[in-house]
Amino acid sequence: MSFQRALALAEVPEDEAVGVTVGAQELAIARHGDEVFAVEDVCSHAAVALSEGEVDDCTVECWLHGSRFDLRTGKPTGLPATEPVATFPVDVRGTEVYVDVTTTLNGVTPQ
Ligand code: FES
Repeated sequence: MSFQRALALAEVPEDEAVGVTVGAQELAIARHGDEVFAVEDVCSHAAVALSEGEVDDCTVECWLHGSRFDLRTGKPTGLPATEPVATFPVDVRGTEVYVDVTTTLNGVTPQ
């Protein structure tokens, strides 16, 4: 495990994702209550940043065609996307959010 600081917890909005780059990996960071999640910042359907999407019920929405991705599993909950996006380990240390971009939680290779 190789966690790197991504951003401050206070920088993660309640109802939308935020984009951040850790190492060479672009991430969409989002929260569900006190839980924080990191997914790769590109929709699996086309090259659209998920960090620009709204977050609801532990999913992030792709603004272009409306597929939602489960923040826990990376899997789309509806069409047109059919493939999961990579999810990364997150560690909240006090007021700071750390992400390990050297591995994925769901085994998906980032695009
Ligand atoms: S680009 Fe994301 S659902 Fe089509």
